[in-house]
Amino acid sequence: MMYTYKAAPDVDVVTSTATITNFGNLAINAFVIHAAEPVLVDTGAVRESEDFMAALRTVIDPADLRWIWLTHTDFDHIGSLHRLLEENERLRVITSFLGVGIMSLAAPLPMDRVCLVNPGQTVDVGDRTLTAVRPPAFDNPITTGLRDERSGIFFSSDCFGALLDEVPECAEDLSDEALRTGQVFWATVDSSWLHNVDRAVFASELDRIRGLAPTMILSSHLPAARGSSMERLLDALAAVPDAPPFIGPDQAALEQMLAGITGVGG
Ligand SMILES: [Fe+2]
Ligand SMILES: [Fe+2]
Repeated sequence: MMYTYKAAPDVDVVTSTATITNFGNLAINAFVIHAAEPVLVDTGAVRESEDFMAALRTVIDPADLRWIWLTHTDFDHIGSLHRLLEENERLRVITSFLGVGIMSLAAPLPMDRVCLVNPGQTVDVGDRTLTAVRPPAFDNPITTGLRDERSGIFFSSDCFGALLDEVPECAEDLSDEALRTGQVFWATVDSSWLHNVDRAVFASELDRIRGLAPTMILSSHLPAARGSSMERLLDALAAVPDAPPFIGPDQAALEQMLAGITGVGG
């Protein structure tokens, strides 16, 4: 089910929950920044485009959007991308060179409507500047998060996501244990390369994010988190390199699951 909630006075969250059997629930968030030139951060999951557009229309007329900030091109982020571009010819897509390249293999982005950014570069959206930030964990080299320099909110893309029993609207409603366990598990799945990083280098990456001192952290896969939760989020991420690696169910496990569903042995 898709619905919206307000994370900050000028930020709406358009969200749904994906249930991953045996593993938990994952928020899939997109965000509307009601800037002078309104920005949509990501566009929901491909299979939910119809519902996404309906929910989006409850918080903004898509014709009023001026920018889509595409953090990366995974299927849970590009769901309504082309639909929005077709509906609104003023819309431009902020992404990286790699984002344009990957999209060209499936549904090319119109080059005259693209705005390329690299980490550290900024985009002026009328009443504020958005700074591109590479998050410390990601599943796709395209990934480009952002800091809204007016509100101080950090949009972290997949980073800081968590697999949860229940998905509240506010990360502070989660117990320390639920947040940490869910976050560590998600990161071992989504950023499995973290097991191979130099711990000191990774610690300095986390310090870089700490230095942003965000007022809020809005992850694509976590309920909205206040800036005061930053240390909890960073602490969980710091534990990931030494957490047990995720190994998915294999064929034998699949057959066992199917037998359980159908009641047919073998
Ligand atoms: Fe992703
Ligand atoms: Fe994602």
